Amino acid sequence: MNSLIEINNLSTYFESGAGTVKAVDDISFRIREGETVCIVGESGCGKSITAMSIMGLVDEPHGKVVGGQIRFGDKDLLKISKEEMRRIRGNDISIIFQEPMSSLNPVITIGRQIMEPLMLHQKLNKKQAYARALELIELVGISRAEQIAASYPHQLSGGMLQRIMIAIAISCGPKLLIADEPTTALDVTIQAQVLETLRQSKEQSNMSIMLITHDLGVVAEMADYVIVMYAGKIVEEGDVEELFERPKHPYTRGLLKSKPIIGQRAEQLYSIPGQVPSPLELTESCYFHDRCESCIPICRIRQPKLSEVAAGHLAACWLYEEEAEA
Ligand SMILES: Nc1ncnc2c1ncn2[C@@H]1O[C@H](COP(=O)(O)OP(=O)(O)O)[C@@H](O)[C@H]1O
Ligand SMILES: [Mg+2]
Repeated sequence: MNSLIEINNLSTYFESGAGTVKAVDDISFRIREGETVCIVGESGCGKSITAMSIMGLVDEPHGKVVGGQIRFGDKDLLKISKEEMRRIRGNDISIIFQEPMSSLNPVITIGRQIMEPLMLHQKLNKKQAYARALELIELVGISRAEQIAASYPHQLSGGMLQRIMIAIAISCGPKLLIADEPTTALDVTIQAQVLETLRQSKEQSNMSIMLITHDLGVVAEMADYVIVMYAGKIVEEGDVEELFERPKHPYTRGLLKSKPIIGQRAEQLYSIPGQVPSPLELTESCYFHDRCESCIPICRIRQPKLSEVAAGHLAACWLYEEEAEA
């Protein structure tokens, strides 16, 4: 499979009164055509800022992509004009967020909101755009399309709204859909419907998906390839089966251990002790060392590099480095 997008050594920093926050710190990965890549990690690990960096939507001037390359086709998305980036956002790369309400206009009908980008980017006339909007509503599994098109956002449930967001996001036939915690705000049963909608949309168009989640249940269901982020860095990555069956990094193991099992009571659930370190407190040591069950002396001194631990499986952990023995 060909690479659709390649992120090389991407770093995105924020300047705050207290210092520099390295929200994303020198990460590299790629997404192939038709592939679903999940980015997983606890809150504050840099997942959303990775997405915003790709979309060219980092909050300036506090935040800035300070280094790297984002290769998409023959372009580097970090080098093109704002105008060109806007065109790519309308046509080739779409994004949906956790809260569909925050992306929809409360006083405009659903139908109109699906039609607008179709008229703007695909140059459809009103009648064509309306017909296409109805098709898209049905495509994301919602019946009574005409009635839905005439409704306002507050008249629909969260799960329906998220499916409408998917309809809008796929309406331009994007090559890449970025979904940032798309099901986090939804009930479990509704979550399943939304994930199914994503999967079907993907199958129909062979688009790639970059799915951000802190939920390993979602990862297990959706991912081809998994990237685990911790404190702005990639700490482990690999194919989904490999990663779930042979997780290497103690952080990934902790995340897997804390994955809820159906029927288990909440109080029986494991959680990794401690918290993601504040980005202002990061030192030369492994960022995970003080939460790690397997910490060895070198972990406190130097940060491990991401390296191959099995074919196509990378981890950044001293437990797998020969150098650590010395
Ligand atoms: N606008 C901002 N100003 C300062 N720091 C920010 C801003 N947005 C995000 N950050 C910091 O960047 C880090 C990564 O955030 P984010 O990518 O949103 O995490 P995630 O999506 O994994 O929960 C966090 O430490 C967060 O506090
Ligand atoms: Mg986030």
